[in-house]
Amino acid sequence: MGRETAAPLSLAILISGRGSNMLAIARACAEGRLAARVAVVLSDVPDAPGLAAARALGIPADAVPYVPGPDRAAARRDFETALRARLAAAPVDLVVLAGFMRVLSADFIERFSGRILNIHPSLLPAYKGLHTHARVLEAGEREHGASVHYVTAALDDGPTVLQARVPVEPGDSPETLSARVQRLEHIIYPQVIQWIAEGRLECKDGQAYFDGAPLREARQLS
Ligand code: GRF
Repeated sequence: MGRETAAPLSLAILISGRGSNMLAIARACAEGRLAARVAVVLSDVPDAPGLAAARALGIPADAVPYVPGPDRAAARRDFETALRARLAAAPVDLVVLAGFMRVLSADFIERFSGRILNIHPSLLPAYKGLHTHARVLEAGEREHGASVHYVTAALDDGPTVLQARVPVEPGDSPETLSARVQRLEHIIYPQVIQWIAEGRLECKDGQAYFDGAPLREARQLS
């Protein structure tokens, strides 16, 4: 197993908003903590603040606009065709979804099988979907966190690789809880990518392998 090349892992980071996870990954690359390079940052939202932030670091960053139309399947097909062209031009080893708010088609995911990661703000499999911080508070949970997982065709459902846990504090709002979770997101995402760069982690046929052994349950940030 493992990567067969010593070249740094080439990343495409897909964002829709602020891009703080993208910046944490870029910083880890720049500081030599992550043996990877951010080849390109792409966003479906043309004015996503993360695009300007990436450009300020000298990283190529472009919008790949999603143009809605009456035929949603056609709109998604056009978007993904443009996205695939940009990824092929980079080219990239790994597609990193970091606050990318669009659901990719099964066909797209199949083409990048085992090479797409996502970060989700919950302890998966709990709280898939949106508004996780508010839902966790409403449910009265004592603990919350974030998960880095491989992307499969089912939403927020591929093998989870690494999780970070935080306590829910009395008086938390979705904003304070989100900030606590995000501080750890910025640690676990670069860590998982570094494992892939080192050849310690891979995903084949929907199964993640860590140090050559099937990863039966998510690792925990310690
Ligand atoms: C993160 O909380 C991530 O878990 C979720 O979207 C948010 C993106 O934040 N998928 P940012 O754009 O990286 O700051």
